[in-house]
Amino acid sequence: MKENEILLKEQLNDVVMKFVIYKPLVAKAAKAGQFVILRGREGGERVPVTLVDWDAHKGTITVIIQSIGKSTFMFNSLSQGDCFLNILGPLGTPVAIENYGATAVIGGGVGIAEVYPIAKALKAAGNKVISVLGARTKDLLILEPEMKAVSDMTISCTDDGSYGQKGMVTDALRGIVEAGEKINAGFVIGPIPMMKFTSKLMLELGIEPYASLNPIMLDGTGMCGGCRVTVEGKVRFACVDGPMFPARTIDFDELIRRTGEYKDKEKLAVSQCEKDHKCKLGLH
Ligand SMILES: Cc1cc2nc3c(=O)[nH]c(=O)nc-3n(C[C@H](O)[C@H](O)[C@H](O)COP(=O)(O)OP(=O)(O)OC[C@H]3O[C@@H](n4cnc5c(N)ncnc54)[C@H](O)[C@@H]3O)c2cc1C
Ligand code: FES
Repeated sequence: MKENEILLKEQLNDVVMKFVIYKPLVAKAAKAGQFVILRGREGGERVPVTLVDWDAHKGTITVIIQSIGKSTFMFNSLSQGDCFLNILGPLGTPVAIENYGATAVIGGGVGIAEVYPIAKALKAAGNKVISVLGARTKDLLILEPEMKAVSDMTISCTDDGSYGQKGMVTDALRGIVEAGEKINAGFVIGPIPMMKFTSKLMLELGIEPYASLNPIMLDGTGMCGGCRVTVEGKVRFACVDGPMFPARTIDFDELIRRTGEYKDKEKLAVSQCEKDHKCKLGLH
């Protein structure tokens, strides 16, 4: 086995792949809420992805990647036996796993993969874990069996009603609380508008909200300032101070603006990549 080697690749749906990678030192040190920065080739982009699972004994880490732009398309075209060039981590501050009592764990799209290690750690610490999983449609809903295994209750929702409850995660969360469940803390990961509205609803329902922020990251070590976000009116670096923050004072609108700043360049990079047919990090 080689360092950074893909030992297993599994397709979860058309755009999401799961990779089990040999990376013993990261597997030994990883904690819930942390991430790694991947690079596929020399000169390639540095891409932050969450540590979804790890096995210190086997020396493996698991990451789940959604193809969204040039680098993630390239990563997802790698095969079992291929290697990532670098894997830097574990990075970020682990989520404080305390005994909160009843907790809500909310994941949207690939955010379900990102919230899974938090649900698992909360459950292991003795919390009641109520999970709400959301996706646009049935095919995009991932890790339901894994989330059920670490949750006391799991509700899956799809926007189009093709699976589970029809509607948004916020509708499901409101329903759970209105049915009498008293929840103390809530952890949400997904698209930024979903985290914004879920956090707002949690405050309304008396749940202390936490959200994991995904600004553009470069070095991942607090040096470049690319990942700055505003929390409690102060500048914080998501890569070292987060990515999970208490959500009641996060400036979500600023985050939406800043993550959208490179949209044109990102589109151009994908169309150039498609034109060149370089879809395997130059390996094939
Ligand atoms: C802490 C953290 C954990 C993450 N975990 C996961 C995960 O487990 N699985 C997963 O699929 N995705 C995860 N992401 C998002 C992932 O990093 C981006 O989807 C990826 O960088 C997109 O790169 P691209 O070249 O394919 O797309 P691009 O076309 O370059 O960008 C598409 C979108 O991805 C975001 N993005 C682009 N570059 C970066 C960057 N350097 N850092 C952060 N976001 C960027 C932007 O919002 C952008 O609009 C995470 C992001 C952060 C910050
Ligand atoms: S990514 Fe550079 S400071 Fe956080």
